[in-house]
Amino acid sequence: MTTTTPSIEPTIQEQASVVLAHVAGYASHRTVAIGLRSGLLDALAASEHATPDELAERLGLDPFYVSVWCRSAFSAGICDRDAGSYRLAAHMATLLLDADSPADAGGVFIVLEQPEMFGRFEANLASGERLWWDQTSPDWIAGVAGTGTPFYTRLVPGGLQQVPGLPERLAAGATVVDSACGAGVGLVRLAAHYPACQIVGVDGDGHSIEQARKRIAEAGLADRVTLVCSPLEELRLEAPAALVINNISMHECRDIDQVTERVLASLEPGGWFVISDFPFPDTEQGLRSVPGRIMGAIQFFEAQIDDQLLTRAAYDHLLSRHGFTELGSFSLTPMHAVTHARKPR
Ligand SMILES: C[S@@+](CC[C@H](N)C(=O)[O-])C[C@H]1O[C@@H](n2cnc3c(N)ncnc32)[C@H](O)[C@@H]1O
Repeated sequence: MTTTTPSIEPTIQEQASVVLAHVAGYASHRTVAIGLRSGLLDALAASEHATPDELAERLGLDPFYVSVWCRSAFSAGICDRDAGSYRLAAHMATLLLDADSPADAGGVFIVLEQPEMFGRFEANLASGERLWWDQTSPDWIAGVAGTGTPFYTRLVPGGLQQVPGLPERLAAGATVVDSACGAGVGLVRLAAHYPACQIVGVDGDGHSIEQARKRIAEAGLADRVTLVCSPLEELRLEAPAALVINNISMHECRDIDQVTERVLASLEPGGWFVISDFPFPDTEQGLRSVPGRIMGAIQFFEAQIDDQLLTRAAYDHLLSRHGFTELGSFSLTPMHAVTHARKPR
């Protein structure tokens, strides 16, 4: 006779805790986003301690509203308080306000509140009407660039240094391509870290390319960075590249196999393709983890542009079936994985 262990039903109180934790998380999310947009978090970072009245006075805000915000920021663990005076809790300045930090998470709060993320999804739930980048707002593109920035910070140069043979090749001078370069944050990083290299940025969205052009001009890098507005499915370079990177965009390609073919054709023998992306969980436990839930949120936008984030292993299959060799991968954070491979020599 076989026996099975009966599964234990959770109690209604336990399930209520699950539901109410979502309400609390939403309140904390809105508190952080208000703090970022209003300057309250910046003002707290600039002072050791501040009362709500002092913060309100400094920013020209309503003192009562600021006191409500401060208390909620305390509840959310963003602030500590002592005798009515508030200060940022440990590491919050780095996590929420330092755009140059590899740990920066501030951009996610702003991007999740854009209408492109959930509002448009809900409005089109029946029609399933899709969109493309040229129909998104400048605020959305700026917000996505903010979210992509810590990915570039971790990848260039730290992540690329972990790819065997690549740092030496780049030090010698080469053509490096950021495919789906967006608003150009990665192009500036690549040009700054690899002074012997020519950098090419390719993106299919005209507004993003214009933003990249401005960013590169402001950084004084126009002589070493070339921009191309083209679908990656039609990628064609003037000179073979030693490295093609793709940051948080490979999953979006309308024809991922054709893009992989074009990348292969654009590389010099032995050249590297480095895919830096969200590793979408492939287990039920992973889906219910905090990183899994955040990546699940990103899927709402991805659905609207007709794709979904991919598992990390999907890139192994993709690169193998197109003849790439020397496959490798590593994790930079639970939400950031790097897959790399070479064109056969
Ligand atoms: C999530 S954003 C990332 C941009 C940039 N890599 C970053 O991390 O900030 C995705 C970018 O990929 C571009 N893109 C997506 N699919 C593309 C394709 N098939 N060809 C060219 N660009 C594409 C979009 O226009 C958009 O700028």
